Amino acid sequence: MAEALIVFASLTGNTEEMADIIAERLEQHGVTTDVVEVLQADAEELLEYEAVLIGSYTYGVDGVLPDEMLDFYEDMGQLDLSDKVFGVFGSGDTFYEVFCAAVDHFEKQFINCGAQQGGTSCKINLNAEEEDIIKLHALADGIAEKLKAK
Ligand SMILES: Cc1cc2nc3c(=O)[nH]c(=O)nc-3n(C[C@H](O)[C@H](O)[C@H](O)COP(=O)(O)O)c2cc1C
Repeated sequence: MAEALIVFASLTGNTEEMADIIAERLEQHGVTTDVVEVLQADAEELLEYEAVLIGSYTYGVDGVLPDEMLDFYEDMGQLDLSDKVFGVFGSGDTFYEVFCAAVDHFEKQFINCGAQQGGTSCKINLNAEEEDIIKLHALADGIAEKLKAK
């Protein structure tokens, strides 16, 4: 089984950059990682990996998922992910009333699917600054550790 898959949605590149930061850190731990934009991904692909991560920005006045994430979100809800380690991250903007709600939605969805949380989900204001990169690395480190313990 392949090791880690990161599926992301990113309009202006902030979440995509976070996906790359996490992938690089996982690779440093020796975890082979594929990074795929959500429109190129099928939820069933999650089943082919030991660790699965979703990165999503948040969009809309009430902090909903981006349109391109909706099908993936629903389809993953049908899967049994009980043998997977998961991670969630995403960019938002603290200007909005509901900050980074997409991260909460995906965290809940993974838990509903029975997956084991690899580390604290990362909600990041706009692009990742130094202190955010530390959090993204910590998420990757947690996932790598849980994979090793399997
Ligand atoms: C119309 C619009 C609505 C948005 N709504 C929210 C929101 O409700 N909550 C939030 O945290 N961010 C919101 N954002 C901010 C984006 O999530 C933020 O710009 C993010 O950095 C985009 O990530 P990306 O570069 O990966 O596309 C909104 C942005 C736009 C343009």
